This record gives sequence, C-alpha cells and structure tokens, in this order.
Amino acid sequence: MKPYIICHMVSSLDGKIDGSALSTVMADGEYEATGAKLKGDAWICGRTTMQQHFAEEQPFRSASKKAAGPCPVFVARRTKSYAISVDTLGKLRWKSGDLDGDHLICVVSEQAPEDYLDMLPERGISYVVSGKSAVDLRKAMAQLGKHFGIRTLLLEGGGHINGAFLQAGLVDEVSLLLVPGIDGRHEIPALFRRCQPS
Ligand SMILES: NC(=O)c1ccc[n+]([C@@H]2O[C@H](COP(=O)([O-])OP(=O)(O)OC[C@H]3O[C@@H](n4cnc5c(N)ncnc54)[C@H](OP(=O)(O)O)[C@@H]3O)[C@@H](O)[C@H]2O)c1
Repeated sequence: MKPYIICHMVSSLDGKIDGSALSTVMADGEYEATGAKLKGDAWICGRTTMQQHFAEEQPFRSASKKAAGPCPVFVARRTKSYAISVDTLGKLRWKSGDLDGDHLICVVSEQAPEDYLDMLPERGISYVVSGKSAVDLRKAMAQLGKHFGIRTLLLEGGGHINGAFLQAGLVDEVSLLLVPGIDGRHEIPALFRRCQPS
C-alpha cells in the first residue's frame, strides 16, 4: 500500500540544501524538469519548506486549542497529482486546496487543533491524521496509498523531513542534482538531518 518513495533534491557539493543560495548557480527549471522525469503522482515537504515557499505567511491560530485526537482520513477529492505537507501541529495556513495545480493533502498528528481540521474541508483540502504526539510517517504513507491511490511519491525536503523518512526506512531511491558550488556554512541544513530520538 505504501507508495514508492524517491527523495528528489538539489544540493551543493558539500551536501547543503539552502534553496535560495542554490538557485543562484543552477539553471532555471532544472530541478522541476528532472523531477517530472521521475513520474511521481505526488510530492511531499516538511512544514518549514512549505512555510517558506507555499503557505500563507501567518500561522493558523486555534480559537479552541482543543486537540483533534484520532480522526478518519478526509478525502476532498481524488486526482492525478497531489502536494502533501507534514505539519505536526496544524500550523500551516492555506488559501485553497490547489497548490500549483496539485491537490493539497495535509498530514498532521492528533495534536492538531479540532478547528484546524474543520477549516481544511471548507477550503477543499484533504487531510490525514496519523500519530499521537508526532506524525507517524509509516502509517501516513499507507493511508496515502490506500485513500488517494498514490503510487510514486517524491520526497522534496528539507533535511529534517528527509532524515525522518530515512530513519523510518521509507526512502526507496535518491535523485540528487549536484550543483557546482560549495556552501560551507555550518548552520545550513544538509540533505538528511538526523532526528532526535523521542
Ligand atoms: N535543495 C533542495 O532540493 C531543497 C528542497 C526543499 C527544501 N530545501 C531547503 O530546506 C530548508 C528547510 O529544511 P528543514 O530541514 O529546516 O525543514 P523541513 O524538513 O522542510 O521541515 C521540518 C519540519 O517538518 C515538521 N515535521 C513533521 N513531522 C516530522 C517528522 N516526523 N520528522 C521531522 N520533521 C517533521 C517539523 O515541524 P513541526 O514539528 O512544526 O511539524 C519539522 O521542524 C530550507 O532552507 C529550504 O530552502 C531545499
């Protein structure tokens, strides 16, 4: 049931993945064009990357602050391509369920607020609730396969979420574009960051 997962990334020669630094040395559209060749029917990113590139600037503020607890998967629609966020506490705010033409699915934990989950269907957004205090990636991947028919998933960063997928044994393949440059900064995330044991 789990999709085949390809971690598709671009990095400097020293494995650093700061998108804005890399875009100064790589050809426009090369990452997307290479990704298209992998024929994924979905792509997935960690909360930080989604916040930086796709979500609304201000985070969601819960009025009730009541955790949703276990909930069934909500399928707003089934389609050919999906964009998926992994957002433990339901912080990301979205305008709609369409992200660059892909249908949005939010993967959250049971700690996400009830009113966050109420808001998602109103905007035509699907969701998967998986894991008590942190997102259970294994279970979430099985749900994505079962309810949305996702077969090939592109894992597109950043380093924390890539590291968590790797630690969970979920990465089947790595697709890496190396740009001819060295970043060298210590604080910049690398391709795979080791997560703290919980
Ligand atoms: N070069 C590339 O190809 C590429 C691609 C993408 C991003 N990037 C770059 O990567 C950087 C961001 O990477 P990042 O590592 O800081 O953040 P990230 O991996 O995008 O997001 C990490 C966040 O995801 C959430 N998350 C939910 N479940 C998780 C789990 N099981 N394990 C780990 N995280 C989980 C956590 O936030 P919560 O706890 O709040 O949910 C965590 O802090 C940016 O600089 C961006 O430009 C580069």
